[in-house]
Formats: sequence, structure tokens, C-alpha cells
Amino acid sequence: MTQRVLRNFRHLDVRPVAGALGAELQGVDLARDLADDVVAEIRQAWLDHLVVFFRDQSLTPAQQLAFACRLGEPVEYPQLKGLPDYPMITPVVKLEHERTNFGGIWHSDTTYLERPPMASMLYAREIPPYGGDTEFANQYLAYETLSDGLRRVLDGLVGISSSLKADASKTREDRLKEAGVEQKVLLAEHPVVRTHPETGRKALFLNVGHTTHFKGWTERESQPLLEFLFAHQIRPEFTCRFRWQPGSLALWDNRCAMHNPVNDYHGYKRVMHRITLAGDRPV
Ligand code: SIN
Repeated sequence: MTQRVLRNFRHLDVRPVAGALGAELQGVDLARDLADDVVAEIRQAWLDHLVVFFRDQSLTPAQQLAFACRLGEPVEYPQLKGLPDYPMITPVVKLEHERTNFGGIWHSDTTYLERPPMASMLYAREIPPYGGDTEFANQYLAYETLSDGLRRVLDGLVGISSSLKADASKTREDRLKEAGVEQKVLLAEHPVVRTHPETGRKALFLNVGHTTHFKGWTERESQPLLEFLFAHQIRPEFTCRFRWQPGSLALWDNRCAMHNPVNDYHGYKRVMHRITLAGDRPV
């Protein structure tokens, strides 16, 4: 099992938040036009820790977008409308009267796309007085802690992801209704174990939100192994949990981490601004 790298940076103070993944990056004001070497350090820390958090940021939509553009190529969220002047910024909102939260299940983002996103960036605008944390899980560790035998089996498998898997599609219903859009079925095939294009490490790449079965297997045949893997990949020792405050920003790597927004704040509003960064075809 590979140990987490802890480096010293010139511009950033890196504070890991848990054993498995996640670090708070201090000493940077994201509203500024950041120097290239600062951006390079942020990227390295993000690759090392899979999800990085910034606190007390004060960002306009234009500034959030400008920071995102330093890291990758922002893309629109499939089937959802962005902010009127910033289509690449998707509001992730739960209102006081709503019971479901957007994306409220363990997942890696939109794996039903042929090229799922490299990264997602979430900026907290309005936070409930309690609850609404987001959990993250390290999928390198999930892979590396399996037996040699099971890893060999998984190395040869392809997973099918669907945008209409019920538990995940339910979480988008309110937002799509609001936008007057019908949910479409989007399907994609991806290796169950992908090699991260920047770190070269192998990670489990399937998720309970979107993966329906293995290619060439029926859903019924796939179910027992999928159930084992869905439980394994979120073992507490592979996870961290982030407590938001207004002005917090999280940047996660969808290629090696999953996330799960916890739905424990009924009666309160939560408003986040999300930017998705384009990814490549998993191999
Ligand atoms: C998402 O899956 O993008 C939502 C994450 C969150 O609201 O914490």
C-alpha cells in the first residue's frame, strides 16, 4: 500500500485532514491572479492528497471561474443549467422544503460520460447551521487493499455506468424539473480499474451511484461482486469528511476519489457553486 507523500511547499501550508486523503491548503488567496509556481504547487498538493480544501475565500463567479481555468477546462454539467451569466458554474442547491440533496449518494462525477470529468470544484456560498458535510474516499487505497487474486479479476473487467440508476437520478429530479428538462439515459463503459494519467497509480473506478453491471455479465450476476466493492471502497479508513463554512472551496480528483454529500440538514438551505473540469477517457 503506497504511503501518502508529505512535501514542503514554498507558497502553501499543507494540513492533512485525515489518514487516507484530504488536506487543507493555507496561505493562498484564490481571488488573486496566482503566479504559475503557486498554481503548480496547488496541483501537486491536489495530486498528493486527492482532495484539497481552502478556507475563507471570497470569490465572485468570475474569480472562481478564473481559478478553475488555471487547472483545467471548465465544462457544462450534463442536462443542468448553469448560472445565467456563467453557464460553466452549476448551482448545487438544497432549499428549506426539499428532502433530497443533489448527488446525495457515493459517486465519482458523471461516470456515465465517455470522458468523465477530471475534477470538480465546489465553493460554499450558503451553509446550514449544522450538517451538509461532504465525505470523500480514496480509490487508490480501495484498490491496493484488495487481494492479488481479486485485483487480477478486476483488472480485466469493464463497468457500465448509467445516468438513470434510480438512487442517483432521484437526487437530480428537483433541479431538472426546475429547468424543465427530462432526464436522458446516458451510458458509458469504463475499466473497473483505471490508471491515473498523472500519477500512474491504479484506482478502483466504479461507484454505487452510476455503475449498473460488468460488461458481458447480467445485472444479477454482477450484483454480489458490485455490492462487495461498493461497501469496500468506502471503508472508514479510506475516507475523510469536510465540514463546510461559507467561503470554503473543495477541489477533488474524480479519477481516484469518490464523494458523498451528507443529507442531514432538512429545513435549512445549502447553496454551492460548482465547476466541473474536463477529463479524458479512462484507461
Ligand atoms: C456533488 O456531487 O457534486 C455535490 C457535492 C456536495 O454538494 O457536497
